[in-house]
Amino acid sequence: MSSAPSIAHELTVEYPGGSYPVRVGQHLLDSLGSTLRELRADLSDRVLIVTDENVEPLYAARATNSLGAAGFSVSTSVLPAGEASKRLPHVEDLYEACVRSRLDRRSAILALGGGVVGDIAGLAAATFLRGLPFVQVPTTLLAMVDSSIGGKVGVDLPQGKNLVGAFKQPLAVHIDIGCLSSLPDRELRSGCAEIVKAALLRGEDSLRGVAHLVDAVALHGWHAPQTTPILLRALCDALICKRDIVAQDPFEQGLRALLNLGHTFAHAIEAWSHYAIPHGEAVALGLLCALRLSQARGLCEQALVMQIASLLARLGLPVRLARAAACAHEILACMQHDKKRGADGLRFILLRRPGSALIAGSVPASEVLATLKQLEQDPPASEP
Ligand SMILES: NC(=O)c1ccc[n+]([C@@H]2O[C@H](COP(=O)([O-])OP(=O)(O)OC[C@H]3O[C@@H](n4cnc5c(N)ncnc54)[C@H](O)[C@@H]3O)[C@@H](O)[C@H]2O)c1
Ligand SMILES: [Zn+2]
Repeated sequence: MSSAPSIAHELTVEYPGGSYPVRVGQHLLDSLGSTLRELRADLSDRVLIVTDENVEPLYAARATNSLGAAGFSVSTSVLPAGEASKRLPHVEDLYEACVRSRLDRRSAILALGGGVVGDIAGLAAATFLRGLPFVQVPTTLLAMVDSSIGGKVGVDLPQGKNLVGAFKQPLAVHIDIGCLSSLPDRELRSGCAEIVKAALLRGEDSLRGVAHLVDAVALHGWHAPQTTPILLRALCDALICKRDIVAQDPFEQGLRALLNLGHTFAHAIEAWSHYAIPHGEAVALGLLCALRLSQARGLCEQALVMQIASLLARLGLPVRLARAAACAHEILACMQHDKKRGADGLRFILLRRPGSALIAGSVPASEVLATLKQLEQDPPASEP
């Protein structure tokens, strides 16, 4: 029943001092071993796969077989699933697994899983023996379009998310979209919020691609063969968006802030809900806030707010937040603790139109509160 691996798209991410390929296609788990051999001839024969307890029973055997067929000796470290694993004690567990597996500086660590696995495995790869080759094999839509590229890796502290980390560029990002077949719909929708964000940053064409995807999902479902090429295109557009921005600002000193479109609001909403609202759903609300704030400042048309609200709603993402008016001050307080808060106070990414974003510093709290309160209302409806 297994089919031959086929690469549908390949792009290259450049960073100072190097580059790496991002391959997207079907059945690519089965070509992992040959890809590693092709990309780096001097790799040792030992590979450590880092995965989680949900992904391991689904995909670890195929990854291991493919690596084994290329002559690698594979050990596997399985983390509990979920954000709670992105903690320093688990990094120490991974170091112990590296020692047990007798990894040396030419051995690869391979992250097989969502953003949690990628972030923590990447931190271990950045630091064990002062750095080992690292391969990303993302299995959630969010990890495919967002966390697996750009080189940011890290873990959470009890005081906040992603407070400890490093930049670790992978040797390759290997995306087998077949892995999405087992992903729960809620996770697919969450990843799609990032695709909408990327499309807003990239422009009208990409936004049309997302609208197409929403139509296909509504008509055929996420996993139908008719949906796959449309999903592939939207996914690649989002990857290109991130690739292009990251290439211009590899160490997050300026332009990369654009990738935070909707995220100042989203992070505050997530924290305020004590993470009961998942990231992708918070991003949907955050995108709507960013657009409403842009409109209130006379930057963008109301039609864009309507268009995006209807797109998000059709994806099954939230466009309203109950009790937003009563809780706006609490959400604002969470925003004021954001580690990315600029020296110029509250800073937001705003949009003039799809493909034209800007950074607005020193936004008065009163404007932010007014925007948050609007989340209690139904968004303006799109014309039929
Ligand atoms: N490094 C970056 O640039 C960056 C960017 C964005 C997000 N992140 C981080 O990514 C993390 C979120 O990533 P995520 O949403 O992928 O979460 P996740 O890794 O927790 O995965 C979500 C859930 O899906 C399960 N899962 C994964 N793949 C599956 C599959 N194919 N089939 C069935 N179940 C599967 C996981 O076990 C988990 O339960 C956060 O920690 C966030 O901080 C990092
Ligand atoms: Zn995000």
